[in-house]
Amino acid sequence: MASSEGTKLWGGRFEGNLDPIMEKFNASVSYEQRMWAADIKGSKAYAKALEKAGLVTKTEMDQILNGMDKIYEEWAHGTFQINEGDEDIHTAHERRLKELIGEAGGKLHAGRSRNDQMVTDMRIWLRDEISVLMGHLQQLIKTMVERAAVEIDILFPGYTHMQRAQPIRWSHWILSHAVALSRDAERLDEIKRRINVLPLGSGAIAGNPFKIDREFLCTELQFEAISLNSMDATGGRDFLAEILFWCSLCLIHLSKVSEDLIIYNTKEFGFITLSDAYSTGSSLMPQKKNADSLELIRGKAGRVFGQFSGFLMSLKGLPSAYNKDLQEGKEPVFESIDTVTAVLQVASGVFSTLQVNEHAMKKALSPDMLATDLAYYLVRKKMPFREAHSASGRAVHLAEKKCIEVNQLSLDDLKTISPLFESDVSKVWNYTNSVEQYAAAGGTARSSVTAQIEQLRAWLKRRQST
Ligand code: ARG
Repeated sequence: MASSEGTKLWGGRFEGNLDPIMEKFNASVSYEQRMWAADIKGSKAYAKALEKAGLVTKTEMDQILNGMDKIYEEWAHGTFQINEGDEDIHTAHERRLKELIGEAGGKLHAGRSRNDQMVTDMRIWLRDEISVLMGHLQQLIKTMVERAAVEIDILFPGYTHMQRAQPIRWSHWILSHAVALSRDAERLDEIKRRINVLPLGSGAIAGNPFKIDREFLCTELQFEAISLNSMDATGGRDFLAEILFWCSLCLIHLSKVSEDLIIYNTKEFGFITLSDAYSTGSSLMPQKKNADSLELIRGKAGRVFGQFSGFLMSLKGLPSAYNKDLQEGKEPVFESIDTVTAVLQVASGVFSTLQVNEHAMKKALSPDMLATDLAYYLVRKKMPFREAHSASGRAVHLAEKKCIEVNQLSLDDLKTISPLFESDVSKVWNYTNSVEQYAAAGGTARSSVTAQIEQLRAWLKRRQST
């Protein structure tokens, strides 16, 4: 007898052997075994539904449930054996169930297909992983928000186009990223809602012929809703595409944080010092301390996006309902979720241990960054902004010509540009005054940064209490 023939769930129709290379090529058990608990959960619920539908007796159901519990124990103790020829996790479990309880094990699959079983497993597994992911994400946001609260008085240059733009609070920079991550958390809530839909009871394509109570399955497996259409339920993978998109976007956000911190950590900037716990050295240059944690986060963002785009390519143009191409969705999802889970923890560590060099940040502020403020000074004296912008530009130009900083221009110099300049212009040349102007909601003034902190704290509290 062929090695595969005896155990294959689909053996009956086949005469010849599976080419050993094909056997390996086809098998997914090596990576999907991590969903063992979800698969057992789904099978136990299905056994109960079969009993309710009169397809197995109460005794048979109990046998199946006990067998499944045994299998659970084996996994939990690390003793579950995957045999050669166990194509996937479902095959492995059904094979073991039959070994443990005999004939009744063969009744479990009535009306069920690996097509609905697989997506059920994936959905159960994913929603649990998402809870873990969410915990790490909220921890990171909390670390950032609390850091922003403590360091609210530190000012440094805000950059646009990587050019010094305007003075901002360091906390404002931190929060800009925390806010993006809070949207990621909310996006994940929505995705989780769409993931938490029960496909079991859809069969291979046409549905379930055995009066299986899907409402019962839904409650038993704690799903929020039941899939509406069996073809969509078994052939649709947008829930995987969505989670891959989510992982990609979250890492894109974190790659931006990383890039800024990498730059701030250079000797040239010196704004921050990454802790030793998240840096590594060079094997050749003794003086080097590299921001490897951040570079890896930045690099992994690319790789995870690759997983996402690769899977979309696998989906494109597929004929409807189940095709084996869909098996290709699992590895990218596992890898991406593992990556994001690690990245979020590393990012929390980086944020809670980095050291801020307030002096270097302050030193990097330069009077030319207050040119906008000079224009605003004139606007407050009722000059139209366009004119004020040009007047301030002329002041910058004049200072350049005189080889001095713009704040060193005398009042007489300024008066040659506009008669509206008076002695109170000296107040413009103060970085704290500058940031304090931006008191409208969302700005970098102390009051508005405090409001952002309070809002994020309340947001975190609400989420952690639910
Ligand atoms: N291992 C398969 C997958 O991951 C399970 C479904 C197989 N179904 C089938 N009809 N061959 O998609």
